[in-house]
Amino acid sequence: MANEIKSNTSVSSKDPAIRVTLLPKDTNANGTIFGGIILSYIDLAAAVQVGKCTSQRAVTKAFKEVIFKAPVKVGDLLSFYATTTYIGKSSITVQIDVEVVRDGKEIQVTEAEVTYVCVNEQGLPVAVKLKN
Ligand SMILES: CC(C)(COP(=O)(O)OP(=O)(O)OC[C@H]1O[C@@H](n2cnc3c(N)ncnc32)[C@H](O)[C@@H]1OP(=O)(O)O)[C@@H](O)C(=O)NCCC(=O)NCCS
Repeated sequence: MANEIKSNTSVSSKDPAIRVTLLPKDTNANGTIFGGIILSYIDLAAAVQVGKCTSQRAVTKAFKEVIFKAPVKVGDLLSFYATTTYIGKSSITVQIDVEVVRDGKEIQVTEAEVTYVCVNEQGLPVAVKLKN
């Protein structure tokens, strides 16, 4: 028997780093989506964006200014838009905007700033080498 997923599938033409639909297993005690699930996808979206900048190994260094602006509901189709905002010596910082479509309008539910650091095989910081 096929799983039934009730979802608003209207999406913007903007190009997200990732897009996901969340399920009942992702909820908190209030029945809305648990914030830690969103954080995990934010980290993934930032990793996708960092992977567009460099082929190097990179690790999550910092999450800053995570703001949960509106609840996320089961069946919401979440789009994680990523913008590279800073490239330092070894670090790459990415702004993530998480949006859902409700009543035909895309609204921002969460935003965060994530910093990745490029590391060598020993896990030590190395200079960023940008892709051509
Ligand atoms: C990533 C890691 C190797 C960096 O080590 P470090 O001693 O902080 O390295 P540095 O002090 O040289 O800083 C490296 C870069 O991170 C930046 N940075 C350090 N602390 C930061 C912070 N709180 N917020 C944002 N950037 C930060 C520095 O500005 C520097 O950037 P730059 O080279 O572009 O100027 C180390 O902290 C680590 O291994 N952390 C665990 C990573 C991990 O496992 N992540 C997965 C989640 S568990």
